[in-house]
Amino acid sequence: MQRLTSRAEFEQFQSDANNRWDRLWQGEATVVSVGVGSSSIAKGALDVLAACERYAQGQQLVVRKVGVDGADWMEVQVQVKRPGQPAVYYGNVEVADVPQLLGGSLQAKAIGVEGDKPFGSIPPLISHPFYKYQHRIVLADTGIIDPDSIEDAIARGAYSAYLKVLFDIPAEDAIAEMTAAVLRGRGGAGFPAGVKWESGRKARVTPKFVVCNSHEGEPNVYKDRRIHEGDPHRILEGILIACIVVGAERGYNYIGGEYPLAIERFRKAVADAERLGLIGKNVLGSGKDVAFRVRTGGGAYICGEGSALMYSVMGLRGQPRTKPPRSVEEGIWKRPTVANNTETLANVRDIINKGGAWYKQIGTEGSSGTKLMTVQGPLTTLGLVEVPMGITLRTLIEEVWGGMRDGYRFKGIQTGGVSAGPLRDDHLDLPVDFDSLTDVGGMLGSGGFVVFDENVCSVDFARYLTAFNRYESCSKCVPCAKGNPALVEILDRIRFGRGSKSDLALMERTSKHIIELSLCGLGQVAPMPLLGMMQMYEDEFRAHIVDGICPTGTCPIGAGDTAIAAGD
Ligand SMILES: Cc1cc2nc3c(=O)[nH]c(=O)nc-3n(C[C@H](O)[C@H](O)[C@H](O)COP(=O)(O)O)c2cc1C
Ligand code: SF4
Repeated sequence: MQRLTSRAEFEQFQSDANNRWDRLWQGEATVVSVGVGSSSIAKGALDVLAACERYAQGQQLVVRKVGVDGADWMEVQVQVKRPGQPAVYYGNVEVADVPQLLGGSLQAKAIGVEGDKPFGSIPPLISHPFYKYQHRIVLADTGIIDPDSIEDAIARGAYSAYLKVLFDIPAEDAIAEMTAAVLRGRGGAGFPAGVKWESGRKARVTPKFVVCNSHEGEPNVYKDRRIHEGDPHRILEGILIACIVVGAERGYNYIGGEYPLAIERFRKAVADAERLGLIGKNVLGSGKDVAFRVRTGGGAYICGEGSALMYSVMGLRGQPRTKPPRSVEEGIWKRPTVANNTETLANVRDIINKGGAWYKQIGTEGSSGTKLMTVQGPLTTLGLVEVPMGITLRTLIEEVWGGMRDGYRFKGIQTGGVSAGPLRDDHLDLPVDFDSLTDVGGMLGSGGFVVFDENVCSVDFARYLTAFNRYESCSKCVPCAKGNPALVEILDRIRFGRGSKSDLALMERTSKHIIELSLCGLGQVAPMPLLGMMQMYEDEFRAHIVDGICPTGTCPIGAGDTAIAAGD
């Protein structure tokens, strides 16, 4: 791969990549694409890929790996495109299926076909409820390109927006598009990215930095690592554009250390972009310089908090600090630093190319665009989806994610990761956006949901969520460092049948202190899941304390038979 030194050379490379892409799909060979990501590897994707490669020897078959497209329920997923036919998607493929799959007789595992028309008895994939409601911008090429191939990415439009900000449009115009898009930060707080970029651009101190927050330490959220695994160049392009636009000399991507495949694929993307001359001095002869570094975390959830992340990037202990100054004034090395979430930055290419007004008309008035959402729980078609803001929780649960599995009854949905309360059936018709869920004690957060069923004890679940915050507290300030362990201790008392009626008021009081007096966002919301559970399932909490039983029979106190005397 030779270093490109001008726009014309890049466009030639782009044209070659387009031709190569077209030849792949229009040629005489059958193209077999196996979805390989951390989730599908756990289900044997590498073995399926190897079996396909063995079978392909000596035949007109091209076997390639692609990222996983989010449909965890049908992994390992394989797409087969025969010459002159639309591509067919097969699900739950095992090694033993490969001869039939590639021999053309595995109808039973065909889930859908590309396009909007059926192919024989195989329905269009987009008619499946899991895909029907999706609007893919960030995930447009995930599951389609080989994430390790910069040629694939460029053939699908990668770096087209970067080219624009390098050569065609002034930084002010790029920021104007971002502002018009009203792209609210996808890391949880929902702050408009255009406004942050504007502050970054106006900052006078130099050098400046941009950091992509790919830490994703929250349990049950798995969107950012999937973008890395499926389309790393989309993230890199967003960071590079932000650097050029705010005038930053270096971009960083801070990736959670627990995601080795995400790190590996992103590092490969950076190395290829560097080799091609998209990073470095005088990029493509534009006269603009941009450097890049990848940093990895050690696994502490708190390192995702903006100010703690800056310290961790610098190699220091990741602990939050008081604000102001905001990071955009004093971030990495005390220099102005624009920090954005992975998903936020992954939207940038399309906003620059298609315009802020285009983006703004997707979603709702207050929350434009799409949102990546993940779910855990006893649902039928689990996975990562990208849907327009404003979709209802009911549509997500009952259609997109296929409803409850046989034998399970819906009890509630935990929203906002570990930072909000649960919602019940009567909340399911609310639109999912930054504001509507907050009004009833929930939260969109970074888009991770947990659906729980009637066998889940609310006291037990509250204990799990509170304990997560307790263990992840950095111990810098007393209300969080001491308050969260106190809450866990009281919850344990209740779970083991030693709770007293005064414990409910004690937990409320302690929670209030933690929320009001903690230094950073972790402590300020840590008790929210507990408060929400106490409010929603008050009868259950009382049953543990007053009657000495757990109505679900699942926590240590038992269903009554082994209960220890309770109440005070
Ligand atoms: C305890 C805690 C953990 C956080 N973890 C993350 C994270 O993993 N990824 C992320 O993007 N934002 C995380 N945030 C939010 C960031 O502080 C910050 O708001 C965000 O990265 C800004 O990017 P955005 O405006 O694009 O959302 C966390 C916040 C807190 C309080
Ligand atoms: S609130 Fe918790 S996590 Fe945040 S600074 Fe205080 S102790 Fe650390």
